[in-house]
Amino acid sequence: MDRRKFLSVTIKTFFVILGVITSAIALITTYPFRIKKRTVKYFPVMDEDELPRRGVKTVVFSYKRQDRLLTTRAFVVNHANELYVLSPVCTHLGCLVNWHRKKKQFLCPCHGGKYDITGKVLAGPPPAPLTRLPMRIQKGKLYIGMKV
Ligand code: FES
Repeated sequence: MDRRKFLSVTIKTFFVILGVITSAIALITTYPFRIKKRTVKYFPVMDEDELPRRGVKTVVFSYKRQDRLLTTRAFVVNHANELYVLSPVCTHLGCLVNWHRKKKQFLCPCHGGKYDITGKVLAGPPPAPLTRLPMRIQKGKLYIGMKV
């Protein structure tokens, strides 16, 4: 390799390395490494004596997420001696399901998804059962856990 070619390769190599280092520094300083992990926080939704003795009760409640007051609903279910809370969010594309008392099913208005009282998929495109939300009863109130 002659001297001119050697200098040319060395200069090109230097600028390639400089470009890689500059890009790495830019990526490291702008990438959001501190993505906030959401934690579950409990919000009161009803008095213990208002819990359904059997079947499904819809509750509407508000909770705070990052200084924003949000309102949502959930289904409090008492079935087969078990109390649990189901999310109304359809697992297909996120529409909100409704409880149909006569059919005893949760029905999704968007694409015909159907769930039984436990949240299990009966028909339609939903790929998974309705989500059970964390809950607890404390000091005479039902609390539902929401990720905030
Ligand atoms: S969003 Fe519920 S079935 Fe599609």
